[in-house]
Amino acid sequence: MKFKRIKSLRGTLSVPGDKSISHRAVMFGSLAEGLTEVEGFLPGADCLSTIQCFQKMGISIEEKSPTSLLIHGKGLQGLRKPDGILDTGNSGTTTRLISGILSGQDFETTLTGDASIQKRPMGRIIEPLSLMGASIESLKGNHCAPLRIQGRPLHGIHYTTKTASAQVKSAILLAGLYADSPTQVTEPALSRNHTELMLNSFGAQVQTRGTTASIKPRPHLAGQKILVPGDISSAAYFLAAGCMIPDSEIRICGVGINPTRDGILRVLQMMGAQITIHPTESETAEPIADLLVKTSELRGCTLKGDLIPALIDEIPIIAVMACFAKGTTIIKDAAELKVKESNRIDVMVKNLSAMGAHITATEDGMILEGGYPLHGALIDSCLDHRIAMSFAVAGLHADGETRILGAECVNISYPGFYRDLERLCQ
Ligand code: S3P
Repeated sequence: MKFKRIKSLRGTLSVPGDKSISHRAVMFGSLAEGLTEVEGFLPGADCLSTIQCFQKMGISIEEKSPTSLLIHGKGLQGLRKPDGILDTGNSGTTTRLISGILSGQDFETTLTGDASIQKRPMGRIIEPLSLMGASIESLKGNHCAPLRIQGRPLHGIHYTTKTASAQVKSAILLAGLYADSPTQVTEPALSRNHTELMLNSFGAQVQTRGTTASIKPRPHLAGQKILVPGDISSAAYFLAAGCMIPDSEIRICGVGINPTRDGILRVLQMMGAQITIHPTESETAEPIADLLVKTSELRGCTLKGDLIPALIDEIPIIAVMACFAKGTTIIKDAAELKVKESNRIDVMVKNLSAMGAHITATEDGMILEGGYPLHGALIDSCLDHRIAMSFAVAGLHADGETRILGAECVNISYPGFYRDLERLCQ
């Protein structure tokens, strides 16, 4: 894909459904009894991997349209041993959450995914799930997938995680559904809480106090209607582009603004962006808003601490924005970036440097000096969807041509991204 400088970006759009919530809708709908209807589902490759895994375990999932599903849930004990290996594709959420569920089954499963998934750390789930009683083997002995999981009778534990990770927290809570006593997870900072909110809407008893979530075992989960809000992580590319590119004004409708995910909105405000948040009525526990953003004079800022988990997936596009801000932007406490779909510290530094940005990698983040114009370059997305989308936006505000290798990887979380972007370009 090739990108060139544009004059302005204007218009209204709705971004696709939230990826984290779409995964959970499929998983919890499969574990509930009766029918779950999902509207606004994200038909991205990652969520399709989750659908396929549950279909392989005997759950009937009808795709009425790409964004509308009917899941015929069979209850907590309704899964059956799949024929062959479960393929989780590029999806860390599928791999880690499903491991929690498989730990409580009375069959053995092997699961693996693509080259990126096979490099991502799974020790962080193997340890707590093993403490609960599951038997999990990393088949290459490197604490990564492929994983062989033999479910066993599980015990409730109180586990303290080393990093704020919703995938780890959710894997433990999901195993906790099958335990013989309550399970608690304490994290160093609050990570996204979609699991807690949605499990409760299905009838589970999950309580949160500070950064500790507790779940009672063996609830009766009943099928639900799930409305998936627009994904704030996908909206972030348009919010950033609307601020950076001259003479722009973009309205994004129906975006999820859960406070455990809204770090990007807080950063835009810190950077001086002209952004208006219009909350709209939500039928679920997930708050929703329409967002309006206009071209803005941006200033650098420091991102650290508890804010990081609330915007971890948005750091690549924030780094792009920081190139157009006045002054220095410092991102710290974000070492998790190294173990995402790619090493996002290295990949951002390499690609933004190629475009002329003043960026330095640090142990746990990066430092950017704004105000140096970007020029087009050849960008290697490393097949990381968030890198490809970030550099598509950078290319719209850079001199010359920007070419992105592996640009089709945006299908992981945002099929139709380039079409939506082009529609707004003036
Ligand atoms: C996700 C949690 C985050 C996030 C990922 C989706 C989830 O990962 O980066 O894109 O749906 O639970 P971690 O839990 O590893 O921080």
